[in-house]
Amino acid sequence: MSELEALGARHVRAARGGAEFEGDRRLGYASCLWLRSAIRVQLELRRDRVRSERELYDFVRAERCEDFIGPEQTVAVDASLRDSFLTHSQYAAQLVKDAVVDRFRDRTGTRPSVDREEPDLPLRLLLRRDEAVLYADLAGRSLHKRGYRDVQVKSPLSEAIAAGLLLLSDWDRRSPLLDPMCGSATFAIEAAWLAADRAPGLGRSFAFEKWVDLDQKLWGELFDDAEARAERGLRDVPPILGRDRHAGAISVAERSARAAGVRNLVDLRVAEVSRAVAPAEVTTVVTNPPYGERLGEGQDLEDSWRGLGEHLRGFAAGSVAWVLSGNPELTRFLRLRADRKVPVHNGPIDCRFVRYALGPS
Ligand SMILES: C[S@@+](CC[C@H](N)C(=O)[O-])C[C@H]1O[C@@H](n2cnc3c(N)ncnc32)[C@H](O)[C@@H]1O
Repeated sequence: MSELEALGARHVRAARGGAEFEGDRRLGYASCLWLRSAIRVQLELRRDRVRSERELYDFVRAERCEDFIGPEQTVAVDASLRDSFLTHSQYAAQLVKDAVVDRFRDRTGTRPSVDREEPDLPLRLLLRRDEAVLYADLAGRSLHKRGYRDVQVKSPLSEAIAAGLLLLSDWDRRSPLLDPMCGSATFAIEAAWLAADRAPGLGRSFAFEKWVDLDQKLWGELFDDAEARAERGLRDVPPILGRDRHAGAISVAERSARAAGVRNLVDLRVAEVSRAVAPAEVTTVVTNPPYGERLGEGQDLEDSWRGLGEHLRGFAAGSVAWVLSGNPELTRFLRLRADRKVPVHNGPIDCRFVRYALGPS
């Protein structure tokens, strides 16, 4: 929500699984380009009560989808239902798609085709009891897909979650940041972009760029401004360090950092945490150690957490560590006293983002 407010969004309010806000076209484009912790940006097209399939069909059919795409373009529909007269979301999505294509066919004689992977107009229906809301997804591909990630990464943290956690931490973006268990280096790469004021959406495309109502001039201005900011910002990034005991993880991290344009800004090395030397400067540590759900098991896990605790005890006064933990049993092996715990959903896992003040007590 604070990211939205920083972009100038008005009337920002928490809504189920996200936030609602009001704004103009500029804000829509800027949200796709600049929001680091969001997954999608949806434009509400219409909202009404519908009590039957017929009413749902008419509700969708009344929408002027021709204002977004031509009949030679592509569409896809997702539906999400709760306590509604329809119980199968795929069936609801089909009904929505039929209403859209029928409208095109009646008006132009041709109809858009369906492309589930990369639709020009991604639509989303939300049907809660008898309240229907139809949205157009401005971004298309989920916003966490920045374009730098290696497809082979095994248990990475979502780019959007990593960025959201960095925003939540009190890192000033000017002092060093270290992830001693960095895996594919999502924290390190997102931190470099954050410190450099590099927009997360610069290296990818968005669905709205294919819409017939695209304001090319406005989008060009926003894009050029983001490029200029990144060019300036990438010259002035504090030390960002990533360590991992697996050479394989570090080579994936190097590839991703290169793809993200920050390979020369993040210092990536193979290191076992229990043998690593703490930096002399005041440093912010942000890390996501393994917690058993996906990587590593048993004694080895305990040793890794114990090793992380030992490492953190060597940091300079004023340093801070933020640790994403999905398992309170393991967190205890750090043998450090937390001063903040923030609940976080990391996919299906209930986690805590835990803060520790470091340095001699
Ligand atoms: C959950 S993953 C981190 C994922 C990472 N945030 C990312 O975005 O890809 C945990 C990482 O900790 C590393 N690790 C586990 N024990 C370690 C240890 N004792 N020393 C250093 N790294 C360790 C693993 O190799 C793994 O890459």
